[in-house]
Amino acid sequence: MVARVSTVAFQGIEGVPVDVQVMIGPGKINVHIVGLPDKAVAESRERVQAALHASGLAMPSKKVTINLAPADLPKEGSHFDLPIALGLMAALGAIPADALTDYVVLGELNLDGTLAAVAGALPAAIGANALGKGLICPADSGAEAAWAGAEMDIIAPRSLIALANHFRGTQVISRPLPAIRTAAGNLPDLIDIKGQESAKRALEVAAAGGHNLLMVGPPGSGKSMLAARLPSILPPLGAAELLEVSMIHSIAGQLSGGKLSDRRPYRAPHHSATMAALIGGGLRAKPGEASLAHHGVLFLDEFPEFSPQVLDALRQPLESGECVIARANHRISYPASMQLVAAMNPCRCGMAGEPGHACARGPRCAADYQSRISGPLMDRIDIRIDVPAVSAMDLIRPVPAEASAVIAKRVAAARERQRERFERAGMGATVTNARCATALIETMAEPDPGGLQLLRDAAEKLKFSARGYHRVLKVARTLADLDAKDRVSRIHLAEAISYRMAGERLVTA
Ligand SMILES: Nc1ncnc2c1ncn2[C@@H]1O[C@H](COP(=O)(O)OP(=O)(O)OP(=O)(O)O)[C@@H](O)[C@H]1O
Ligand SMILES: [Mg+2]
Repeated sequence: MVARVSTVAFQGIEGVPVDVQVMIGPGKINVHIVGLPDKAVAESRERVQAALHASGLAMPSKKVTINLAPADLPKEGSHFDLPIALGLMAALGAIPADALTDYVVLGELNLDGTLAAVAGALPAAIGANALGKGLICPADSGAEAAWAGAEMDIIAPRSLIALANHFRGTQVISRPLPAIRTAAGNLPDLIDIKGQESAKRALEVAAAGGHNLLMVGPPGSGKSMLAARLPSILPPLGAAELLEVSMIHSIAGQLSGGKLSDRRPYRAPHHSATMAALIGGGLRAKPGEASLAHHGVLFLDEFPEFSPQVLDALRQPLESGECVIARANHRISYPASMQLVAAMNPCRCGMAGEPGHACARGPRCAADYQSRISGPLMDRIDIRIDVPAVSAMDLIRPVPAEASAVIAKRVAAARERQRERFERAGMGATVTNARCATALIETMAEPDPGGLQLLRDAAEKLKFSARGYHRVLKVARTLADLDAKDRVSRIHLAEAISYRMAGERLVTA
């Protein structure tokens, strides 16, 4: 007799249905797992045998064959333990054979028969719900899986024995409840930053429209400090965004305690990051930092210190909003619609352009350092600002600064205006000006006659690329949104162009 249990194999954030087939038949006593298992799946044989033994079940003295169908799809991860164990239990008659037909099963087994949390419970639950099935997963993954649907049947036992008792009707396992992580502690606040008014304004604009931002300045001027305070002015994730972000974090095994958080992701990888760490890939093609920052912020401090190849690999995700990892035998894509925030010194010694300072190597110092960032990557950055050293006056007797909560309100209002506008245009999925389709931004950010004249002159003199032209329009649209204006005017365009020019100066420096 063949017992069957449904489970999933993950490709990106999609779960591909996998059928675990268990057959106990005559032959030499042995347990075989076939169907392209990786090392973790092959080892599951040992865990399953030990867990069954601990649960009071003896392995049959017969030949056991376990097939993971489709046979040509590679199976990776430890979540196949539970479906294999349940298939064996069904084949042995320890649980009713038809009890499992309406469930997708995933989970890892400990040797004592208890279940351990696995990555990917949320996407598996969403996939199962779409098929009209329930889910069986470890208790520690239950809170995360419960987000897939209020009506969905989810069984999240602590151990194999508890599950077997549940099926026999001697113990009832109640449905897990969806859990949300409450914000732990306060985020760093912009009120701590003295002076730097124009940098704070740029940060607000970047937050309001989701624009990419580059800060250039001497050491100790507060660039890293400013970036760390960006999350405090970003609006919380919407319901749809929350699920999307959590699916990626679930696949990466980074949802602590199975709890979701509505705080926008903020990822700040060190500059020694490899291509696989940033874009995704490696042995199991896991999501990289760019995807983990989906709908949030990817902060690259000491921008030119990253390897140039790694930085250039960001060009495609920055444009398309997804990271595509192509391998010889499969192709996976993870969403990566993030906002890039970068900080750098203008040159190796860090002081180029500061009044009264002369670089030892002259203009070459700045040119060499900045040439580590390619032109096309720079072209994707909408807002580029100088962050000069804070003046002694600002440090000793600062003017009172605005708190993050006040700025966050303005940002939220500007985002609300964007959302309404995109909804009217039938583009519900787009939420920020930075992510707006180019064809649409030309009509949405159509400038008034004065603005048009300014834009025409600037585009001619500064030789904007087509992308640069559209990005100026997007930033101007955000500035008008912050101003609560329906029409983009000259003053908005002037500010948007000034943000772009700071970068042109940088390139020609
Ligand atoms: N505008 C500011 N207001 C208050 N404190 C500041 C400000 N700028 C810098 N500081 C102080 O200087 C320290 C260093 O700032 P920060 O790390 O942000 O500098 P940075 O611009 O990132 O420098 P680097 O280029 O070397 O990375 C902060 O921890 C803070 O104590
Ligand atoms: Mg810094």
